[in-house]
Amino acid sequence: MQSKLIAAEIEDGLKTRRLGRSVLCFDEVSSTNDIAWDSAKQDNTDGLTILAESQLAGRGRQGRQWISPPGSNILASVLLVDPAGKLNQEAVTIAAGLAIAEAVEETTSLHAELKWPNDVLLYNKKLAGVLLERQVRGAGQVLVVGMGLNVASCPKAEEIGYEATSLAEHQAALPSRKDIVRSILQKLDLWLIDLEDDKLTGLHEAWLSRCGMLHQRVMITSAGKEYSGRVLDIDPLCGLLLADDFGSRVHIPAAGATIVDTTNMDKNGK
Ligand code: BTN
Repeated sequence: MQSKLIAAEIEDGLKTRRLGRSVLCFDEVSSTNDIAWDSAKQDNTDGLTILAESQLAGRGRQGRQWISPPGSNILASVLLVDPAGKLNQEAVTIAAGLAIAEAVEETTSLHAELKWPNDVLLYNKKLAGVLLERQVRGAGQVLVVGMGLNVASCPKAEEIGYEATSLAEHQAALPSRKDIVRSILQKLDLWLIDLEDDKLTGLHEAWLSRCGMLHQRVMITSAGKEYSGRVLDIDPLCGLLLADDFGSRVHIPAAGATIVDTTNMDKNGK
C-alpha cells in the first residue's frame, strides 16, 4: 500500500499556472471523471484536480473498465474549462500521455514510450492511459482529462485482454504517488500553455520522439472501418496519417481509433 494522497501536499508550492491549484482527494468514488463533471457545475473550477484511492466504476476508452486495486495507483482527472474553445481535444489527449511519460522519466529511472492514441507503454506493455471527455458549453467547452497510471500494481492480462505493467514491476525504489502526480500536473500545465498559443511543434516532436510507431505497418479500426498501412506521421491536431495499402493517404482521428496489431507486420518485407 502506498502512502495516502493528501491534497495539501500536492498543492504545496506547485509550479503550475492552471492545473492542480485546487486538488480534491477521495478514498472511493465511482469514477474521478464523474466527480470532475459534478464539480464542473460550479464556478471557478478550471484546473481542479480530482484524485482517488479507488474507483467503483473506473472507465477506459471505448466502454472498457479501468481496474486498479485500492491505494496502489494514480487515478486522476483534471477539469479544463475552456470558454473560448481554444483547446483541441486530440492535442490535449496527446499532451496528457506525453506528460505522464515525462513524469515517469523525471521520478524514476525508466523510459516510457507512447502508443497512439492514448497509451503510455513500458517495455511494450500498457502502463497508463488517458480518457478525455468533452461537453460543449455555448461557444466553448469543458474537458475532463482522466489519467490512470499503474504505480504499484496492474491487472492481469486475463482480466483486461491485453498486457499491462506497473512501475513496481521495473523499479524497486518507487517514487511517491504525490511526486508523480505533481510532476504530471507540471508537465501537462506547460504543454497546455503551448496549445493555448497554437504552438504545436514542440508537442509534435516530443511526442514522436517517444513513439515507436513511425514508419511501422499497423492495422487500425476507426468508426467501424479497418485500415492497414504504414504510419507517416502523428499530428497533434489531425491524428494519425497513414499511407494505406491502396496508395492513399488517410488521416485517422484519435477518437474511436484502436490499433489492432503492430506486431511482426514488417516481416516479409511488408
Ligand atoms: C484507457 O486507456 O482506456 C483510458 C484509461 C483512463 C483511466 C482513468 S483512471 C482516472 C480516470 N477516471 C476514470 O474513470 N477513468 C480515468
